[in-house]
Amino acid sequence: MWRPQERIKWKPDVARWPSAEEAAGSTLFSPVRFGPVEARHRTWVPAMVPWRATDAGFVTPEVLDWYGRFARGKPGVLVVEATGVRDVPSGPLLRINDDRFLPGLKDLVRTVREASEGDTKLFIQIIDFLGIRRRPDPAKYFARFLKITDRHRQALEMPDATETGIRERLAPLDDDALARTLTPRELEALRYGYRERVTDTDLPQIADLPSTLPPAFAAAAWRAQEAGFDGVELHYAHAYTMASFLSATNTRADGYGGARENRARLPLEVYRAVRDAVGADFAVGARFLADECIAGGNTVEDAAWFGRAFADAGMDFLSLSRGGKFDDALQPSVGWAAYPYTGPSGYECMPQYISDERGPFGRNVHAAKTIRTTVRDSGYDAPVIVSGGIHGFDQAQSILESGAADVVALARQSLADPDWFVKVLCGDGGSVRLCEYTNYCEALDQKHKQVTCKLWDRLDLDEPDILKSIDGKRRLSAP
Ligand SMILES: Cc1cc2nc3c(=O)[nH]c(=O)nc-3n(C[C@H](O)[C@H](O)[C@H](O)COP(=O)(O)O)c2cc1C
Ligand code: SF4
Repeated sequence: MWRPQERIKWKPDVARWPSAEEAAGSTLFSPVRFGPVEARHRTWVPAMVPWRATDAGFVTPEVLDWYGRFARGKPGVLVVEATGVRDVPSGPLLRINDDRFLPGLKDLVRTVREASEGDTKLFIQIIDFLGIRRRPDPAKYFARFLKITDRHRQALEMPDATETGIRERLAPLDDDALARTLTPRELEALRYGYRERVTDTDLPQIADLPSTLPPAFAAAAWRAQEAGFDGVELHYAHAYTMASFLSATNTRADGYGGARENRARLPLEVYRAVRDAVGADFAVGARFLADECIAGGNTVEDAAWFGRAFADAGMDFLSLSRGGKFDDALQPSVGWAAYPYTGPSGYECMPQYISDERGPFGRNVHAAKTIRTTVRDSGYDAPVIVSGGIHGFDQAQSILESGAADVVALARQSLADPDWFVKVLCGDGGSVRLCEYTNYCEALDQKHKQVTCKLWDRLDLDEPDILKSIDGKRRLSAP
């Protein structure tokens, strides 16, 4: 993962923890309303993909164990990982594109209700993503994958060469010669792996996204309601399809790219289709980026504009993340796909303890305040959720009291200690296992391995009935 040059080492600093009485009277542990749904507390476990579903996207005992463990800590809201809305293989990530996924999702809802004794509201994040391939072996790329065109013949000054002749000529070329011969997209496919973009409107499946996605998201949201969830979070963040529509880099010329109004058009159409499918009694909100943190990408001004537009459309919450884009991702090894959390924007999404003078704690708070202020000044009251390096009670309280957000989200801190919420509420904050922001968990995610935390995954391995990783070396949930 990319890290800031300054390489300053930060430690989570929790100066003090509140007494049970103070916690009970705090803003953090006061109720908050997301449209039709009221959560008991302003605490939130954001979506985290744990790589525990089957390859076909079904709920497994490991998935139930993962969410049940978070639910025992009783956060105000728990959001289930990014779950696919279309019928495309996604490895062991959950899917919700067909009724065959309903029984497993119902089990998941039941598990969370029981484990939290009904105290935690349960949302599910629904996602669409475009095609991405692994970085190819160059020999195979030139022999098979690259589509040979007359442009290559011209560039190589071999007008009459056969396809095989062109392939043989390209394979030994050095980087400079390749840069002169291949298009930027062909070079990218060679160096990073082929990746579809929302601007590839010459591809019918991409041109058609404005007609295919609203019904796909709507059907997924309907299924979430059917399964018993309290709401859905539309995934409009990071490197995925809907965020790419919102992005300032979206130059589609069909009315769905260019100006902000056009970039927001499909996200708003998706929202309306979802709302029509689930009605007013189900919470619907979006997770989007307070800042894309890439050259030429959306800034906080864009995000404030989108936040107001989403609130105006009737969204019940606005959840803010940051960065996490393919545009600046590091080059993957041969045989691996690019991962959107490896470059500077990825750092902004999941900042690590080795940081710059701003540090990894609360990097998104300033932007959240700008966005929330715009939304409030425009007369809308949709709650704003902020995440990024939040781990302390005073820190969380000051974010809420400063008007930067209405709810605080703790991702890695909840993984390090899912009992953070119940411990702090009971005045037992001193026993919280504090996240060290090492990103060991994120590295597992990057390698498509079952996600665990380094602070507990080797503890008490002989405990009876615990689930273990495929290699048997790590426990899968916190002791
Ligand atoms: C293992 C892992 C998986 C994640 N999966 C998702 C996801 O499915 N959807 C999403 O919006 N964010 C995902 N994130 C990002 C987190 O929700 C959160 O925004 C980020 O970790 C920053 O918050 P934190 O500093 O509290 O960890 C993931 C993070 C981690 C560490
Ligand atoms: S592995 Fe554990 S301590 Fe390290 S960043 Fe992840 S949750 Fe925090």
